[in-house]
Amino acid sequence: SHFRTTHKHKIVVTRNLGPDVMPLLLNRPEFEVITWPEDSVCDRDWFLKTIPGASGILVMLSEKINPETLDAAGPSLKVVSTMSVGYDHCELDALAQRGVKLGHTPDVLTDAVADLSVMLALMAGRNSKETTGIVQNGQWPNFNWAPFSFCGPQLSSSSFNPTRTAGFIGFGRISQATLARLIPFGFTHCLFTGNPNSSGTSTIAAEIQAKYPSLKGVRRVSLDELAKESDVVFVLAPGGKETYHIVNEGFLRQMKKTAVLVNTSRGTLVDSDALAKALREGWLWGAGIDVVEGEPNVGLDHPLVKEPRCVVLPHIGSATNESRLGMATLAAQNLIAGVLGEPLPAELQL
Ligand code: DGY
Repeated sequence: SHFRTTHKHKIVVTRNLGPDVMPLLLNRPEFEVITWPEDSVCDRDWFLKTIPGASGILVMLSEKINPETLDAAGPSLKVVSTMSVGYDHCELDALAQRGVKLGHTPDVLTDAVADLSVMLALMAGRNSKETTGIVQNGQWPNFNWAPFSFCGPQLSSSSFNPTRTAGFIGFGRISQATLARLIPFGFTHCLFTGNPNSSGTSTIAAEIQAKYPSLKGVRRVSLDELAKESDVVFVLAPGGKETYHIVNEGFLRQMKKTAVLVNTSRGTLVDSDALAKALREGWLWGAGIDVVEGEPNVGLDHPLVKEPRCVVLPHIGSATNESRLGMATLAAQNLIAGVLGEPLPAELQL
C-alpha cells in the first residue's frame, strides 16, 4: 500500500552476505534493501550515491565511516553495522556526534582468531615458511634428515625450557582465549599490557591466576618488561592512533633472540620496516602475521614477505565457515535492531 511503501526503511549493504544471511534482511517487508551487486570491494562513489536517506548501512572493514559517509547518508541514519569486531575504519566521534549507533561482531570470531594465533606462533617458531617452501619448490630431495637441521624454539615447555612466558599486547577476549589454548602447552607465565583507562584491569590478573592454577605468574606489565620476558608476544589490541607502531625498533631490540612475535589484530600496531630489520639481524627468532600495515598492497617486494622467518597470511584470522556465518548473522541482527530502534545485540559504546 501507499502507506507501507513510504515508510520502508532503506538499508544499504556493501557486500552480499550469502544465502544463509541475506534472507534475514530481504524477507522483511518493511525494509528496502540495496546491496552492492559485485563480488568485490564496494565502490566508494556507488556507496556515497546510494546511502542518502538510508536508515541503516551494513559495511565491511573496507568502508571508511567518516563525516563524509555520515553526511552523505543524512539525518535518517540510525545505525552502522560492521561485519567485523574491529572498528578502526570508523570515526567514533563522528558517529557519536550524530547519534548514530555502531554495531560490531565480538565473540563469534574469538575462537577462530585464537586458533590462528596459536597456529602462527607454531609456524613462526618451527620455520614453516622456509620448510614448506623447500617442499613446494621440489627441494626436499636435497635435504636428508639431519640431527639439527630446521630446528627452532619449541612452543611447549620442556625439561630444557621449563618456563614459558606468553606476553599479550592488549588483553581482551581474543588474548584470553589464546592463553586458554597455551595452558596445555605448558605455559607457566602470562604477562599483559592493557588500556589503563579500561575498567577491571586491576582484578583481571587475579581472576586469570585463579582460573589457571598451573600458571606461576600472571602480571600486568610495561611494554618494555613484556618485550624482555616473553617467549611469544601476541599483538591483540585495537588499531588506530593510540596503538600505532606500538611494536617498533625499541620494542623489538628488547625481545629474546628465541622469541616469536604474532600479530593477529591490525597491521598498524607493528612497524613493518623495524620488524624486517629485527628479523634480518636476529633480534628475535621469527614472526607470524595475519595483518600488515597497508594491506592488501603486500606484494613480493614487501620487506616482510622477503623475510624467511616471517610467515605472512592475508588477514584470515576469522576465516572459518562457523565464524564468518556468525559474524554475518550478528551484523544483520545489529542492523535490524538499530533500524527498528531496539537494543543492538552487540553495540560498541561510543
Ligand atoms: C575483524 O573482525 O575486525 C577482523 O579483522 C576481520 O574478521
